[in-house]
Amino acid sequence: MAAPTFNQLTINSIRPVTGNTEDGVALTFDVPEPLQAQYRFIPGQYLTLRAEINGEDIRRSYSICSHHTDEPLEVGIKCVEEGQFSNYAKTLKPGDQLQVMTPEGRFTAKIGGVNNYLLIAAGSGITPCLSIAKSVLTDEPESRITLLYGNHNTDSIMFRKDLDNLKNQFTERFMLAHILTAEKQDAAISNGRIDTEKLNQLSEHKLIDPTSYDAIYLCGPQAMTEQCTEALLALGADKERIHFELFTTGKTQAAQQQTKKTRSKDKATGTPVTLVLDGAERTIQVDGDNETVLAAALKAGLDLPFSCAGGMCCTCRCKVAAGDTEMDLNFSLADWEVEAGYTLACQTRPKSNNVILDFDAT
Ligand code: FES
Repeated sequence: MAAPTFNQLTINSIRPVTGNTEDGVALTFDVPEPLQAQYRFIPGQYLTLRAEINGEDIRRSYSICSHHTDEPLEVGIKCVEEGQFSNYAKTLKPGDQLQVMTPEGRFTAKIGGVNNYLLIAAGSGITPCLSIAKSVLTDEPESRITLLYGNHNTDSIMFRKDLDNLKNQFTERFMLAHILTAEKQDAAISNGRIDTEKLNQLSEHKLIDPTSYDAIYLCGPQAMTEQCTEALLALGADKERIHFELFTTGKTQAAQQQTKKTRSKDKATGTPVTLVLDGAERTIQVDGDNETVLAAALKAGLDLPFSCAGGMCCTCRCKVAAGDTEMDLNFSLADWEVEAGYTLACQTRPKSNNVILDFDAT
């Protein structure tokens, strides 16, 4: 598996993600012919965008919202208060260029077959679900999708027109339910937030049947995905069929700092760590009490693959080929990956000498 790489892509078009550009924008990119193979994606994957903003090198991950083969590469960027990249994105125009990493992510739906899907999204969590819905409904002609989409009110619904179009085009196979917290809808069951109680109500009314889905995709804040996972399991869903992606975690930066402060004291400081990337080896010193491997590598001028730096996206996944390490946080590696020795460089600190982290390991 090739390490993800950045390429300079030109923005082809920009559109608002709601009725108001201030809420965020969707960007489509022109992908030159020689790069097209690298930018093929599986529905559910994301792109990491990178730009220098006010002198700082900023990168952020945004999910692709397009059909996996028939539409231009498009990401949805929801504006967040004081969000450096999302506010910058609103100033972009067609013809501008951005550094765009090749698609990454394992919150994916492999298209093919006859399947029954449940998608649950909140806010900007709709972006990967939209790509999955477009691709499944078009390319799996007998598959069905139920999408529960939580928002504040009608005006804050992202990609509303796209969703309405899908609903009109695939009336028989696409069930879309908007669940709104701050706007009363005619059907009482559509009011409130997507949580345990809501899933239980929907199940009681036979609007969802968690035992029947071939795949369930959850995308939104950590509290929602955790609560919904538990509720779905209690309602009989198969754990192996539940996939989730976090857009935000409940951990604040302060909490993450605290995690670092309370870490065990037996870590080595200034430990040599060897990094293997694209066949080349480079050894850096990592002060495990004060920095992660990723932080030390960036300080040393190495260009390791990373995006969120928060343990959520998995872009910095690598394998511990030698030595002992520990992670601060892990929101994206599966249990089997941790058991197999994979780690997240943005969360990893050495616990012994002679640690080797292999970014080329598949
Ligand atoms: S950069 Fe996202 S998990 Fe490490």
